[in-house]
Amino acid sequence: MAPISIDSLASEMPIPPKHLIPIAIDLQEIHDRLIFIAHVAGDMMLKATQSTRLSEIKSNTSDQVTATDRAIENMVKAVLKLHYPHFEFLGEETFKTEQKLGNGPTFICDPIDGTLNFIHGFPGSAVSLALAIDKKAVVGVVFNPARKELYSAIQGRGAYLSRGADHVVRLPVRDASPLQGLSSSLIGLEWGSQRCGSNWDLRTRTAMKLMSAADAGGQMCHSLRSSGSAALTCCYVAAGFLDLWWEGGCWVWDVCAAWIILEEAGGIMASANPGDWTPSLEGRAYLAVRGAPTGQKELVEEMWGCMDGQFVF
Ligand code: IPD
Ligand code: CA
Repeated sequence: MAPISIDSLASEMPIPPKHLIPIAIDLQEIHDRLIFIAHVAGDMMLKATQSTRLSEIKSNTSDQVTATDRAIENMVKAVLKLHYPHFEFLGEETFKTEQKLGNGPTFICDPIDGTLNFIHGFPGSAVSLALAIDKKAVVGVVFNPARKELYSAIQGRGAYLSRGADHVVRLPVRDASPLQGLSSSLIGLEWGSQRCGSNWDLRTRTAMKLMSAADAGGQMCHSLRSSGSAALTCCYVAAGFLDLWWEGGCWVWDVCAAWIILEEAGGIMASANPGDWTPSLEGRAYLAVRGAPTGQKELVEEMWGCMDGQFVF
């Protein structure tokens, strides 16, 4: 992969002289900068060659990393360090198991969410960039370059989907209708890469129950959708394309940016594990429900009622 010149990126968005750096964190400026960086990352994804798409296995064959994942994360980290030298950085490809999210401002990066889609050329991969403060997402940007879809939000200022400068819509994209329970829901469910053990059994039993007809003891939801990217699936809930997304097993970088986009679109995030209404960013168990005038909490309870166990990490 052709090396990205950090100097050239910096010169396009110059660093303010030290005496001009505001004491308060300017979330709008960070949002705009993350969008700029997401577009650079998107170009790197679109221009990837056979050799930069070559993958290596991480924990198993469905958990892979490519040179492009690493190159994007290095670029994101270097540019953010240049502009915000005192902020922490947590990224999927440089993460160390002992690293914990702290209360200080922290950039959270998944350079490519949907790496398997990227390897196969399936147009459903995104760069996911967020700023968290006090362990809560306050800015989020999720960009799928193959479809030119950019989801973004700033705390307190709404969430947006942009398909180019002339086509920006506030989320949700349509007036939110009341939720009417699992049997009337289109559900996002990702499969993850851990394909055995008690978490896998719970995931597959629950999927079977959601899909099966009432006569077969199921909920007969409208259907399930898997995008291959947890970040995009959560954004689809924010947009109102899906009614809910349920997953145990993905990570803080998969969900952080999409979480604030969901909340700013009127959605709620509970834990994928029954009874927990205040999930943490690092909890690895998420249940997102779209914005709706009624039925959000009832849908969470109904989803929890479908499960016969808990995810354990
Ligand atoms: C994966 C995707 C997938 C989800 C996995 C994630 P990656 O991220 O978001 O949809 O089911 O849990 O790990 O590996 O493509 O960055
Ligand atoms: Ca990734």
